[in-house]
Amino acid sequence: MEQTLSIVKPDGVSRNLIGEVISRFERQGLRIAALKMIRMTKDEARGFYIVHKDRPFYESLTDFMSEGPVVVMVVEGENAVARVRELMGATDPSEAAPGTIRADFASDIERNIVHGSDSAESAEYEIGYFFSSLERVNSTA
Ligand code: RTP
Ligand code: MG
Repeated sequence: MEQTLSIVKPDGVSRNLIGEVISRFERQGLRIAALKMIRMTKDEARGFYIVHKDRPFYESLTDFMSEGPVVVMVVEGENAVARVRELMGATDPSEAAPGTIRADFASDIERNIVHGSDSAESAEYEIGYFFSSLERVNSTA
């Protein structure tokens, strides 16, 4: 069993796609192990995307991620990291496979609806960034 961190980004929340994203995960047999809505400050968004701090899109990305509420969740299942990434599609929606969340809904490479951890190591950092151990359900326990 693996856990990953996913976010419905501010564009997804404002376009009423929270349920759509969660449904796609659940329909694939993935389980939601923790869930909440938050509004990140600019600094909190900077901390979350710290791995991208030297990238040219860092300022714009962290402005976007703090422009409105997001839904953060821990998604659990076998190969959860890779399966969530597959359901999301490529970062740039014009390159995302048909039927993926980004192909179906994203407007551009930045406003792309959803986040998913890119490795088990990232997932550990990202889950700990948003959720205390008390907020995380272990559905197999
Ligand atoms: P994410 O981390 O949000 O799940 O997305 P990702 O792995 O597919 O893409 P990543 O390279 O980690 O980039 C993080 C987010 O930054 C924005 N971005 N903008 N303007 C650009 O060239 C650009 N490139 C990336 C996107 O919101 C991307 O999801
Ligand atoms: Mg990424």
